[in-house]
Amino acid sequence: MSVLQEISQNVRNIKQLEYAALARRATQIQKELSQGVRKPYKELTDVCWGDPHSLGVKPLTFVRQVLAACVYPELMSSHKLPLDVRQRAQWLLGKCEGGSIGSYPASAGIPEIIQRMSKSIARRDGGVPCNPENVFISPGSQWSLTNIIHVLVNDEAPLRTGILIPVPCHVTTITSITSLGAAVVPYFLSEEHGWALQVEELQRALESAKGGCNPIALYVINPGNPAGYVQSRKSIQEVIRFASEKRLVLLADEVYQDCVYGKNSEFVSYKKVLAEMGPPFSDTVELASFHSVSKGFMGECGLRGGYVELVNLDPNVVNYISNLNYDTTSVLAQFALDLMMNPPRPGDPSYPLYNQQTQDIKNMLVQNVKMAHEVVNSLPGLSCQPVEGGAFVFPRVLLPPRAIQKAKEEGMQPDTFYCMRLLEETGVLITPGCEYRQKEGTYHIRFCIMASQDTINKALKHLATFHTKFMKDFS
Ligand SMILES: Cc1ncc(COP(=O)(O)O)c(C=O)c1O
Repeated sequence: MSVLQEISQNVRNIKQLEYAALARRATQIQKELSQGVRKPYKELTDVCWGDPHSLGVKPLTFVRQVLAACVYPELMSSHKLPLDVRQRAQWLLGKCEGGSIGSYPASAGIPEIIQRMSKSIARRDGGVPCNPENVFISPGSQWSLTNIIHVLVNDEAPLRTGILIPVPCHVTTITSITSLGAAVVPYFLSEEHGWALQVEELQRALESAKGGCNPIALYVINPGNPAGYVQSRKSIQEVIRFASEKRLVLLADEVYQDCVYGKNSEFVSYKKVLAEMGPPFSDTVELASFHSVSKGFMGECGLRGGYVELVNLDPNVVNYISNLNYDTTSVLAQFALDLMMNPPRPGDPSYPLYNQQTQDIKNMLVQNVKMAHEVVNSLPGLSCQPVEGGAFVFPRVLLPPRAIQKAKEEGMQPDTFYCMRLLEETGVLITPGCEYRQKEGTYHIRFCIMASQDTINKALKHLATFHTKFMKDFS
């Protein structure tokens, strides 16, 4: 097989994303609307992705003021900017050659920023030390994750490298794993138990991989995407014990760590729990923890900034990974990381507004989740587990057999068919559960709730009307 044939084979092996057909149709509809084609709606309501600013969430003033002053330092002479904004911008620019964001940053990232990030990680974890040499910044957490998977994959071994993934799972991770030639080993989260991660299921998944691939890593998402669970400390301890016993590298995707709103839930990092468990776990279990400026209250997806912290990895591996990170992260993304991890504190001039804005976003999320939960659970054939964190809801749809049959006839997965109909009839764009994998015979939909209340209100109103009609039409 030629190299090109091999590449094209690999590309075919990557499952065609179900969303592609929906996105194509949405683009056509957009065009039709702009050409004046009459439809029961005037515009699309796209609540597919965790991209808060595109969904009407406002950027944080402190973040944008500091970045603006860094891009255009003349602004610093204006007293319109609060003192701490000017001081922070001055400090950040002081770390750039020639005091300009236009000069090349240090290849591995600006050392002072990485040091401050590691202090912030240690603060988050109640004083568990964080070595700046183990923190690697990147153009987004997904970039870091893909790199780590790349390092883990052994192309030359007789068995393919396997990575345990939750089902449902963040879709881009599945794509990263398969495109790097590794095998996904699915473990199913228990929907009936609020999408709980159960160790017996990890055990089953590992057994199922025997002979098919060589599982070497366990990927977890906490808080969850698409199913908004938040793992308890006890659950994390169980996962760590399992990883230790089975010698699996833990890949902890913790990008939604600031988005926890369940009444009895709190975010505790894998790193903190690992440290609390003490030896032998704390000094043997290999952990990579990911975070990002895309999520949380900043929602600065477009700036492309993230990082990974590595714990207990072999120094040679760490060294290799550090080389992969050379010259990758833009100066503004590095600044954004500094701002996310070192926000204004009480007493700082920017604190009152920053506090107000982050509180408003938190309240908006709580309100959106409440509304989504109420509306979804009031509709026969739709049900949603409690959502405790993250940016999405992932309700289950009990599709009537006639709808499933019709989907088959149209060559679509049943939940894609449901989403396509919703798009066609209401202009609301959401994603089908099959995109994230799901238990056979179950169907789900996912939509983002990190959006303005108006956007969510509108999407829910359309969903309720559509769903009632759909169920009637197909029952
Ligand atoms: C669980 C999870 N991890 C990672 C990412 C990607 O983050 P980034 O923008 O930092 O690459 C997302 C984005 O939706 C996500 O949901």
